[in-house]
Amino acid sequence: MEQYIIKGGKPLVGEVTIGGAKNAALGVIAAAIMTNEPVRIQNLPDISDVDILLKGIEALGAVVERPTVHEARLIGGSITTCIAGYDDLRKIRGSYYLCGAMLGKYKRAEVPLPGGCNIGSRPIDQHIKGFEALGAKVVIQHGMIIAEAEKLEGAHIYFDCSSVGATINVMMAASMASGQTVLENAAKEPHVVEVANFLNSMGANIKGAGTDIIRISGVSSLHGSTYSIIPDQIEAGTFMLAAAATKGDVLIKNVIPKHLEAVTAKLVEIGVEVEEFDDAVRVVASKRLVHTNIKTLPYPGFPTDMQQVMATLLCVAEGTSIVTETIYENRFMYVDELARMGACMRVVEGNSAVIEGVEKLTGAIVRALDLRCGAALVVAGLMADGYTTVEHIEYVERGYEKLVHKMCELGAAIEKVDSEDTKAIQKFKLRVG
Ligand code: EPU
Repeated sequence: MEQYIIKGGKPLVGEVTIGGAKNAALGVIAAAIMTNEPVRIQNLPDISDVDILLKGIEALGAVVERPTVHEARLIGGSITTCIAGYDDLRKIRGSYYLCGAMLGKYKRAEVPLPGGCNIGSRPIDQHIKGFEALGAKVVIQHGMIIAEAEKLEGAHIYFDCSSVGATINVMMAASMASGQTVLENAAKEPHVVEVANFLNSMGANIKGAGTDIIRISGVSSLHGSTYSIIPDQIEAGTFMLAAAATKGDVLIKNVIPKHLEAVTAKLVEIGVEVEEFDDAVRVVASKRLVHTNIKTLPYPGFPTDMQQVMATLLCVAEGTSIVTETIYENRFMYVDELARMGACMRVVEGNSAVIEGVEKLTGAIVRALDLRCGAALVVAGLMADGYTTVEHIEYVERGYEKLVHKMCELGAAIEKVDSEDTKAIQKFKLRVG
């Protein structure tokens, strides 16, 4: 099995360029099948979640070409079935966007219940509520979400919680319903705005994305488009925190600084310098970090996807920090892994963790339990004394493009090796000393 081996203690220094946003890309790719005309999507991240969704779309009968790993050309006009039968679709979360896309276009969709990281119960009741409000009948049978409608009609829908997935899914279906739809308590994350912008570029009429009220006037057809995906705010945030963790100096390029404000504010609070440019941020840390409290919230609050990496940083910050997770009930499973590295962190009352900052972490064999947990363990390994082995890196590779390569370019001592390949492990140890 492949794993990362890391020798900690080297500051990250240099420049890194951020790729396209995973969670925006998944929504845009699904939405691209809503037109019969060709669509070109650029700045795609080269990650396994994207590959799986594209294969799933190809299996529907769509034409899918990959001129480069960062670009896809799709033609939805040749789709022959509304049953998303490609098996791997059930392993990723973003596959559920095919439901809103096909329901909007064909008024029928059969899509596997989604997978994704095991970070909580992750219900889809708000997606179903939205589809039903538009006039669809939705049932779950044999692991599939089956949604169909004679016709979709615009409706006034109030979401009971702020859900990125439900907002995007229902927005897609509503953009091809007849009449007006109003989504209230809509999610405001950048990827919601991104999918709305993309749908509008195909001729949809969506207003208000990025606020909690989205108004959609349905159209009867959509046309082709060429679209470039925004930079990944979570990848950018991960590099910002990795720079701070290693007392480094990194210029993180191709970012939208506005999307990083919550992370920037917390970094400044704990003693890190962050300089903002038009499309880059520079992160410099030179002294021991100090404690703070973090509470995850929907955008523009502190993102849940950065909670684990931020908490890792706080493990070596001076003083006591409290991290409260309000989005997912099960996003503290990594605490036991960090404990192997000497972190002093305990979960209290289920959704909070108290961290007593220690002087340093020490390398150990740890296991990625989900995507962002994996990223957190890599950052922990980069700042720890000695060698860290991160197992189950398939989680990390679902969402980070060339993480090892990018970290190495910044001077990190990290390599992907086969756990059986003792020679490669020895060679790495000899090389990094
Ligand atoms: N929720 C419901 N009912 C629903 C939908 C959501 O109760 O029908 C709840 C969830 O249980 C959760 C909260 O609402 O407590 C937010 O869930 P949301 O629907 O916003 O999350 P998601 O669409 O399943 C996306 C990202 C996640 C990211 C969250 C929050 C994708 C593919 N996934 O998930 O990304 O954590 O939004 O920003 O876009 C990751 O990239 O590591 C990741 C987990």
